[in-house]
Amino acid sequence: MHQFQPYPMEVLEFNPFKKIGQDWGVIVTERDGKTNGMTASWGSVGCLWNMNIATIFIRDSRFTKEMLDATETFSVNFFEEGKMKAAMGYLGKVSGRYEDKLASARLTVNHQCETAFLDESNFVLICRKLSATRLTEESFLDPSIKENFYKDGDMHTMYIGEIMEVLAR
Ligand SMILES: Cc1cc2nc3c(=O)[nH]c(=O)nc-3n(C[C@H](O)[C@H](O)[C@H](O)COP(=O)(O)O)c2cc1C
Repeated sequence: MHQFQPYPMEVLEFNPFKKIGQDWGVIVTERDGKTNGMTASWGSVGCLWNMNIATIFIRDSRFTKEMLDATETFSVNFFEEGKMKAAMGYLGKVSGRYEDKLASARLTVNHQCETAFLDESNFVLICRKLSATRLTEESFLDPSIKENFYKDGDMHTMYIGEIMEVLAR
């Protein structure tokens, strides 16, 4: 296993548009000894309720939603730029409901206290769930959002998590 160090948030240089939107992250959840990872490119980081937070958006159909709803914590994992795109493509296409995706993608599970994360990552947000809000049609003020993203009714739930720790190596 690699050595990860806690990274002070005050000195963090993090471009969310690039890191989340272009490089992508992997959301890792663990329950009853089963660990799953799902690629995500929608999300944000910021401040809310006097805490540093990460927000992720998970559709109803994802196995990750089932896992998240049954757990207290999750991790958001980032890799060295340009690396692991094939693995992330796999985790973003296949569902963990039917197989151990992390094993198939040859990824290694590490832990920070009770929270699972990927040993191959170089930057990890360890998060504690604070809220879960399912977006509904009534949420959208711009009608094109429903039209463009939710025609099939597979809605997102917005999970806000407190960033308890940032790990880097
Ligand atoms: C680049 C990329 C970004 C994605 N971002 C999201 C996202 O932010 N939210 C989401 O619900 N699904 C997203 N997906 C789709 C899930 O990763 C995909 O459906 C995955 O197979 C779900 O796995 P699970 O069923 O094991 O949770 C994305 C897929 C890719 C390839």
